[in-house]
Parts: sequence; structure tokens; C-alpha cells
Amino acid sequence: MKRVSQENRTSRIVTYVTLTLVFLSVTSLYYFPLFGTYIPIIPYRTSSLVLPSPSAPPPVDHVDVVDDPIESANAEQKCDLFKGEWVPNPNAPYYTNDTCWAIHDNQNCRKFGRPDEDFTKWRWKPNDCTLPTFNPAQFLEIVRGKSLAFVGDSVGRNQMQSLMCLLNRVTYAVDVSSSADEKSRRWSYPSHNFTLANFWSPYLVTAQEVDPKGPTLTGLFKLNLDEADPSWTTRIEGFDYVIVSAGHWFFRPTLYYRNKDDLVGCHYCLDKNIEDLTMYYGYGMTFRTTFRALNSLSNFKGTVFLRTFVPSHFENGEWDKGGDCVRREPFRSNETRLDGFNLELYMTQLKEFRDAERAGRERGLSYKLLDMTEMMLRRPDGHPSRYGHPPKAKVTLYNDCVHWCLPGPIDTWNDFLLHILKMDGGRSRRFPQIIQNATSINS
Ligand SMILES: *[C@@H]1O[C@H](CO)[C@@H](O)[C@H](O)[C@H]1NC(C)=O
Ligand SMILES: *[C@@H]1O[C@H](CO)[C@@H](O)[C@H](O)[C@H]1NC(C)=O
Ligand SMILES: *[C@@H]1O[C@H](CO)[C@@H](O)[C@H](O)[C@H]1NC(C)=O
Ligand SMILES: *[C@@H]1O[C@H](CO)[C@@H](O)[C@H](O)[C@H]1NC(C)=O
Repeated sequence: MKRVSQENRTSRIVTYVTLTLVFLSVTSLYYFPLFGTYIPIIPYRTSSLVLPSPSAPPPVDHVDVVDDPIESANAEQKCDLFKGEWVPNPNAPYYTNDTCWAIHDNQNCRKFGRPDEDFTKWRWKPNDCTLPTFNPAQFLEIVRGKSLAFVGDSVGRNQMQSLMCLLNRVTYAVDVSSSADEKSRRWSYPSHNFTLANFWSPYLVTAQEVDPKGPTLTGLFKLNLDEADPSWTTRIEGFDYVIVSAGHWFFRPTLYYRNKDDLVGCHYCLDKNIEDLTMYYGYGMTFRTTFRALNSLSNFKGTVFLRTFVPSHFENGEWDKGGDCVRREPFRSNETRLDGFNLELYMTQLKEFRDAERAGRERGLSYKLLDMTEMMLRRPDGHPSRYGHPPKAKVTLYNDCVHWCLPGPIDTWNDFLLHILKMDGGRSRRFPQIIQNATSINS
């Protein structure tokens, strides 16, 4: 395969990778600063956010559950799952826009004419072991009678919809949301008594847009860095698994508060009376508060996953200046390096994760990492780009290099999720029996 020389490519990426953020309220125009410029964001229209309900049961593929090695836990434990390469996977994808109704329009790349399919045909190969591709029947057996929640922004929802599409091969979900809020939904899988939910909370802590104009006529958010967002903390206690993530929203201008109304600093507020503490400060404090909230919920007995920050891939311009993601294959490990603000955000959240893991252990809570940062840095080919909407649609983020096409590389996140669940708690030994029973679901 022909590849661009490393220096060339790296420097272009460093120069042009800019950040975005997305999806939120309907009409406002947001900007955020990066490299001294202001990046306007108009989130997508939310009118298409409601997922259509399936009018008929989804097609049930034969799911080959037997051909899925459950490797010995000992061998697996020595393997760093997150160090490896993307390798071709001719069997993928495992669903399409025609077999999965859960794909949000903005990630429905095939529907909007993306001509190539190669970006779906890769899987992650850890250097020292194998990561099996997602097996929906196995997953459903593990989560039988349990519940899983995603807490975060639209990229978290992106992973949830990937999971729903992967499960769709075996069974499908019923919308059991208690509110009409389109951004936070709850789904039930009656066949397995499994509950799936997402809680929309892009900052994880309490956040408010205090000025739609702000210091640069671009909008300004107030974050209460010591107050986890009650929209999820009040509803999370009963969940068995919680996957938290946060990312691109932190690039926006923000005011940092503590104790409700004590202004302690800001990020890019351009006010000489307020100390600019950087976005890393806000990002770190947010995760500290989030994990502390989970550790202090007395009835919470679940497993916490941190899905780490995932970089965007705008090249040859910023996101609003013609930047785009047009590559058609992954990078190899020797062709990219995590650096700059991506590295800084990643290290910031990892530090908080390690502290939380220690505190959680004392109280019997398990913390796990979905360490997607570096592997996804290598997937510039997996974004919607201009195929997240009809051609010539009036959307502000015309080329989306932040979210991920479905099917696409984000499906791999669920390969990890299942694998980690399998490794957890020594359940894997019981699988052969369970798998046989599960197989009968499909026949
Ligand atoms: C990366 O490694 C592959 C094989 O390991 C090699 O063929 C390729 O030339 C390397 N690329 C760079 C830029 O070093
Ligand atoms: C899926 O994509 C194909 C190819 O663009 C399109 O013809 C079809 O209508 C889409 N199906 C759905 C259900 O959106
Ligand atoms: C479903 O799972 C919940 C726990 O999440 C449990 O309390 C309930 O009894 C289960 N229902 C059935 C019918 O198994
Ligand atoms: C699988 O099915 C067999 C017989 O149908 C039953 O005895 C066994 O308990 C089942 N195992 C599980 C884990 O459901």
C-alpha cells in the first residue's frame, strides 16, 4: 500500500487537525478558539434525532458464536489490548443501513452516498493476542438481567448506536424512555432483560450557556466544576455498567465555578480579570468530579468504564475552512504519534482515572479503561465527512471529521467492551455452555 511519507503527513496533521464539537441545541452558533482562531459550530438539526421504531423484527442473521475463541484468561492478562495495528477484516461489516434502523442520520454514511466501504473492513489486532470481533449472542448472555449506560456527548451516543446495530443481528430494542427528551433515551431488550440507556451530558458536570455571544460574540459556558450533572447522577445508581466520556465540548470558551458561584478561572474567556486556567484544567476537574460522584453514590455497585478522548481528523484546513477527512485507509503505528493537545487531554483524564480507580477499589467498585485514543488517531478514514447529510444540505459542520460512520471503526469499541466484560469476573469459563444455549436463539 502506498503511503505518504511520515514527515509530510505528521506535519500536516499537526498543522491542521483542529477540533470540533458538535450537536447540541438547534439554532445557536457556537465558536471556540483553537490556534488563535475561532471555530464556529452550528450543531446539527436535532429534528432527525428520534430513532424510528422498527416496524418489523430485524433480519436475524446466523451468528457464528462457536467460531469465537475464548482464550485463556492468563494469556489475555499479559496482553496490552490497546497496543496493536489495524488489520484487514474481509468479513466486516456486520450490518448495513438497511439492516439496522438505529443509525443516526448524521452517521448514516452509506445512505448519503459514501461510495467506498473499505473503511468498514478493518479490525484491531493487539500485538500479543487476539481481539475477537463482537459476538452479539455472547454479549447478550453476559448482560442478561443487567443494565448499561452511556454518559457523555454525541460520540458516546455514536458508540451506543453501534452497539444497538451489532445486537440487532440477534434481537432488538424497545424504546422505554420515560421522557420525551430526544437526547437521552432508554432501551429495553426484552429477550434478555437487558437495559441500555444514554444520558446526554456533554460536560458531565453542571453546565449552562450563560451568554450566547460571550467574549468573542461566540457563546460562553459556565461549568460548575465541583458539581456532577444531576441529569445523570440522579438516575445512574441502578446501572451495572457505566461508560463515561467527554471531549470536544471542552474547546469552547468556558467559565469555571466552584461552590455554586465562586468564579475560579476560565478557558479562553478573554477577560483580563479572570485567570485563564486552560481547558486541561476544566477537563481534569470534570473527570475528578465525575468519578467522585460515582464513588460516593451509596447504592451504586456498577463497573465504570472511561472511554478515553478520541481525536478528530480535519486536514488541509480547519473544520469551517474547508478542512476535511478524505483518507481511505488507516495509518500504521509507525505513521502517527499522539502529541499536542490530544496527548494533553488524554494524559489529563488518565491521571484522574487512576486516582478514581484507587478510591473505587477501596469501596469495591471496578474501573476499566476503553483506551481508544491512539487507535482511533489512526482512523482518519472512518468519519462521515460530507456523507452525514444530503448533498448541499445547509449544515454548519459540513465535513464531519469528529463522529464515526456506522458501520465503521467505532464498532471496534464494542469489540473491546465485550472482551473486557468477558475477562471480568472469571465468567468466561462458563461460556461454552451458555453459548450453545444462545445459539438456539438464532436458529
Ligand atoms: C511502517 O512499518 C511498515 C511495516 O512494519 C513499513 O513497511 C513502513 O515502511 C513503515 N513506514 C514508515 C513511515 O516508517
Ligand atoms: C441505505 O443506503 C442505500 C445506498 O445509498 C440506499 O439506497 C438505501 O435507501 C438506504 N436504506 C435506508 C433504509 O436508508
Ligand atoms: C430483570 O433484571 C432485573 C435486574 O436488572 C431484575 O431485578 C428482574 O427481576 C429481572 N426480570 C426478569 C423477568 O428476569
Ligand atoms: C442450557 O440448556 C440446558 C439444557 O437445555 C440447561 O440444562 C442449562 O441449564 C442451560 N444453561 C444455561 C446457562 O442457561
